[in-house]
Amino acid sequence: MSRAVALLKHARSVFVLTGAGVSAESGVPTFRGTDGLWRNYSAEQLATPDAFQRDPRLVWEWYHWRQSVILKAEPNLAHQALVMLEQTVENFLLLTQNVDNLHRRAGSKNVLELHGNIFRARCSDCGKIVEYVFAQEEISGLPKCQCGGLLRPDVIWFGETIPADAWHDALDFLNRADVAMICGTSGVVWPAAAIPGIACGRGVKTIEVNVESTAISSIVDVSIIGKAAEVLPDLLERLTAGT
Ligand code: OAD
Repeated sequence: MSRAVALLKHARSVFVLTGAGVSAESGVPTFRGTDGLWRNYSAEQLATPDAFQRDPRLVWEWYHWRQSVILKAEPNLAHQALVMLEQTVENFLLLTQNVDNLHRRAGSKNVLELHGNIFRARCSDCGKIVEYVFAQEEISGLPKCQCGGLLRPDVIWFGETIPADAWHDALDFLNRADVAMICGTSGVVWPAAAIPGIACGRGVKTIEVNVESTAISSIVDVSIIGKAAEVLPDLLERLTAGT
């Protein structure tokens, strides 16, 4: 912990990558944890264009269920600590794989959503993007665009390309960052999984926060094992103590 504090104290530019573990304390299940399955389906089985083409109702049911869980959730102490970190350092960028909007709800400003946002939908035909919150009356039908096309969640599915602008901006910032923090992600889904390696290759100091060791624990400079909602507030308290 003290090494992480020292790295952050001297940092002018901090890059943060987050994953589902950061929202765990808000009651949002992670994908690869023990509660990661929905009706025995994994994310890999449902979050694909093929799955949507085969059974759009099933995929929408999963997203509606996830929306209902997220709507009941509040940002936790980890989200709040990252808001404080943004206010503490000179330059800050938060790249999240989470689609739950909790970073923005907590108050983080410079956020890039790599996998989209669960509260938006996109027309499969005309491509129009709309804000979308599941309404009970839609349970019998599938959500449709004004043009009549089928709406789909505005998220990135397996096999799809991530938003080029967000990825470019993230790498551009990472290039100039002093410290990269990797919080609550298993680090197995690409291209986000490449971030720790890219950071190390560019001499950016890396800090991982996770409840367990991951594939990247051996390459980062500091690996802190613990819940993000406990470790991050502690880190921020030490960082700002006496300043
Ligand atoms: P995962 O479910 O793969 O990993 C969650 C990580 O968080 C694991 O490494 C856990 O050990 C860790 N974790 C769990 N609870 C934690 C806590 N309280 N504090 C800190 N760490 C904790 O989720 P992601 O890595 O986010 O993509 O998954 C990446 C992508 O795979 C997701 O964005 C999603 C999924 O399929 C798509 O749907 C395209």
